[in-house]
Amino acid sequence: MNLPPKVQLVEVGPRDGLQSEAQTIPLSAKLQLIDELADAGHNYIEAGSFVNPQWVPQMADSEQVFAGIERRTGVRYCALTPNLQGFERALVAGVDEVAIFAVASETFSHKNINCGIEESLQRFRELMHAAREQDIPVRGYVSCVLGCPYEGEVSPQAVAEVASKLLDMGCYEISLGDTIGIGNAGSMQRLLDTLLARFQPETLAVHCHDTYGQALSNILVALQYNIHTIDASVAGLGGCPYAPGASGNVATEDVVYMLNGLGIETGLDLDKLIAAGNRISDTLGRTNASRVARARLASR
Ligand code: HMG
Ligand code: MG
Repeated sequence: MNLPPKVQLVEVGPRDGLQSEAQTIPLSAKLQLIDELADAGHNYIEAGSFVNPQWVPQMADSEQVFAGIERRTGVRYCALTPNLQGFERALVAGVDEVAIFAVASETFSHKNINCGIEESLQRFRELMHAAREQDIPVRGYVSCVLGCPYEGEVSPQAVAEVASKLLDMGCYEISLGDTIGIGNAGSMQRLLDTLLARFQPETLAVHCHDTYGQALSNILVALQYNIHTIDASVAGLGGCPYAPGASGNVATEDVVYMLNGLGIETGLDLDKLIAAGNRISDTLGRTNASRVARARLASR
C-alpha cells in the first residue's frame, strides 16, 4: 500500500465534539481538555467557535476558552467562524487561525447557517478579505460530502464546485466532512476520484463521523489517495446540532491506534490521549466512544 509516512491530525473534540452537548460544560473542564490534548502531542486544536450563541449555546464561552488555555509553543489553536462578526470576535480572542464552513446541500446550508450556499460564500468572501488583511490562515470545511440528512445523496461534482470556490477565495485546505457518517469505502473512493482529478491531495483533509461504523475504513481509503490531514475527536465526542442522528466524530484514539499499526507518524502519545478522553467522558457522564480506549480499560 502506498501511504504517507506522516499524518497531520486535527483535533476537533473541544469544538465539534462539545458543540451539541445539551448539558452545560464547565469552562474549567474545557480548558483541562484542551491543555491535555496539547500535552498528548496535538499541534492543531479546534478549541471553539464564534457563532451566534443562540444557535449553539455550548460555544458561547469561546472567548473565555481562548483566554484561559495555556498556550503551548508549536500548537495552533483554531476556531470556527461563520461570518465577519464571528471572525472579529475570534481575532480579539487571539486565534491562530479560523475555519469557515460551507456545504453542497441547499437545505443543510439553511438549517446550519440560515442562508443558501451562494449567500454563505459571499459572507465567507468578506471574512476572507479581513483574514488576509490580518494574516490569519483560513481552513474551509465542506459538510455532508457523502450524504445530507435532508437531501440524501450529494454528488461528488457538487462537492468539487463548493471546494473549488473555497480554495479560490483563499482557503489553504478543504476538510471534507462526512457529517452524518453515511459514507463507505466505495462512496469515499468515488468522491476522491472526482476531487483528485481537480485538486492536489495536500489541499484536502477528511473529517469522518462514525455513525455507520465506517470512519476508519473511509480514512484508510483517503490515506491511499495520499491525503495526509485527518480530523478526529477525542473519545469520539460530537455530532452536529443541525444534522439529526449524526453521532460522534471518529475517535482520535482509534485513528492513532490504526496509524501506529501502519507505521505512520502522528506525534501523539496514545496513553495520554486515552487519559484525556476518559476524563472528559467522565465529566460528561458517558461511556468513552473510542473502541481503543474501551478495550484498554477492559484489559486493565
Ligand atoms: P442569523 O440569525 O441569520 O444571523 O444567523 P444575523 O446576521 O441575522 O444576526 C442575528 C443575530 O445574531 C444578531 O444579533 C447578530 O449580532 C447575531 P441581534 O441583533 O439579534 O442581537 N450574530 C452573532 N453573534 C455572535 N457571533 C456571531 C454572530 N453572527 C450573528 N458570529 C449565523 C446566522 C451564521 C450567525 C448562525 O446561523 C450561526 O451561528 N450558525 C452556526 C451554526 C453552527 O455552529 N453549526 C455547527 C457547526 S458546522 C458543523 O458542525 C459541521 C462541521 O463540523 C463539519 C462536519 O462535522 O462535517 C464543520
Ligand atoms: Mg464533525
